[in-house]
Amino acid sequence: MTMDDRDGVIWMDGEWLPWREAKVHVLTHTLHYGAGVFEGIRAYNTDKGAAIFKLQEHTDRLFRSAQILMMNVPFTKDELNKAQREAISLNQLDSAYIRTMCFYGSEGMGLRADNLKVHVMVAAWEWGAYLGDENLEKGIRIRTSSYTRNHVNSTMCKAKANGNYINSILALQEALSTGYDEALLLDHEGFVAEGSGENLFIIRNGKIFTPETTSALEGITRETIMIIAKEHGYEVIE
Ligand SMILES: Cc1ncc(COP(=O)(O)O)c(C=O)c1O
Repeated sequence: MTMDDRDGVIWMDGEWLPWREAKVHVLTHTLHYGAGVFEGIRAYNTDKGAAIFKLQEHTDRLFRSAQILMMNVPFTKDELNKAQREAISLNQLDSAYIRTMCFYGSEGMGLRADNLKVHVMVAAWEWGAYLGDENLEKGIRIRTSSYTRNHVNSTMCKAKANGNYINSILALQEALSTGYDEALLLDHEGFVAEGSGENLFIIRNGKIFTPETTSALEGITRETIMIIAKEHGYEVIE
């Protein structure tokens, strides 16, 4: 089943569209230069139905990412929260991955285009564990990447921006093609930054260490782990 050929509905610019009709033109600006921002949000199956993990925090980060790219999101946070919640109920999902993205349209081309409309989409579907269910049990093999993590002064790592993920994709392809499951990226000084798609923690001598977020995404799972660890009396050192 391809991503574009499914039953269900996708929210785009304030309307619910049949899944297969949520399309853009090939001259869509973000498709060419990668200037867009997005979120990936999990909803878990509970006794009370699907529970979205930290929806508000993800929406807040989406708006911070947009602000970094100087993109004006043409909806309020409440409107996007509603669309993200409804993406689960309308698609009748028990557990879900929600993908929300703000992207530029096809009103112009070139880096100087200044008449671009900001579009927003929300889709949700069932998606298993990020690194595979089996790997959750048995662990994974990680390779230190030969690619350096995006530098804060070149791509603004704090933004969850579409184009930033070229760095992740290159590192992951290198890891997978050499028999590993994931890439560990170092910053430009050689310090551990993060994985291609996740923050990292290590436990050493009873203390928990995690890289600071200069060259890593301000992960919401990261923040949550730090809160839980502290509640359990562990020191978390950045
Ligand atoms: C590069 C990168 N780092 C870290 C994370 C973890 O972020 P979060 O915990 O907010 O999902 C992600 C998640 O998509 C990511 O893509």
